[in-house]
Amino acid sequence: MSKPQWLPLVEQQLKENPKSTTYAFSTLSEEGKPKVRFVIHRGITSNGLLLTTTDTRMAKPQHLAHSATTEVAWWIEPTNVQFRITGPAATIHPSQDLQKAFKTLGVEGQTDEEGSAEWWENKRKELWKGVSGHLRAGFGRPPPGKKLDEVEGSDKWPETIPAESDKPEEQKTIQNAYDHFAIIAIAPEAVEYLELKPVPNRRTQYRRQGDGEWEETKVAP
Ligand SMILES: Cc1cc2nc3c(=O)[nH]c(=O)nc-3n(C[C@H](O)[C@H](O)[C@H](O)COP(=O)(O)O)c2cc1C
Repeated sequence: MSKPQWLPLVEQQLKENPKSTTYAFSTLSEEGKPKVRFVIHRGITSNGLLLTTTDTRMAKPQHLAHSATTEVAWWIEPTNVQFRITGPAATIHPSQDLQKAFKTLGVEGQTDEEGSAEWWENKRKELWKGVSGHLRAGFGRPPPGKKLDEVEGSDKWPETIPAESDKPEEQKTIQNAYDHFAIIAIAPEAVEYLELKPVPNRRTQYRRQGDGEWEETKVAP
């Protein structure tokens, strides 16, 4: 399988615009309704899976368990380009069926990196260490979306949580939060690259073929 042509484009944009890490990520609800929200880009695997993270208790993992259909809209403001990335996604977390996730992502049978349970657990740990203590604290708070009058007062919520600790009490807090920390991996099958700076604008579509090769089509913007 050749390296997708769109991958160096994303990598180059991120190199030039390291702060442009927020994209809109849409899933389908159990009722088949589109649901969109912003998430933070957390990396791309060597075979081109996009990674973001979430709380297992949020809606995204439930949506993905029901339907793997997703789309990303990513506007890189300084260079005025947009990537629209379409493809199945899966939640990666010990509570999830990893083999099913591998199948969804098209990496089943692969023994290294994205096809290895150990690689994903190391990646989850690495991403956990990479986020801020304030963000980690969110995973130790009451279930997202629960009515505020049904949860304990916010004065009792942790403000920040370290990635690791050797104090047993703190270890419990960390474990509870880490238990909710999940990766979402997106397997692009179509990518549209829109360049708004050149006149006329340019719009290029990449589509993965059955044999794993990518076809590039330039279209009118
Ligand atoms: C700039 C920005 C970045 C965000 N990054 C994330 C993220 O990386 N992961 C995440 O789960 N939610 C993130 N959120 C919050 C989501 O937009 C959303 O409110 C939350 O995930 C609940 O969505 P859900 O219940 O549909 O899963 C971010 C919000 C903003 C505004």
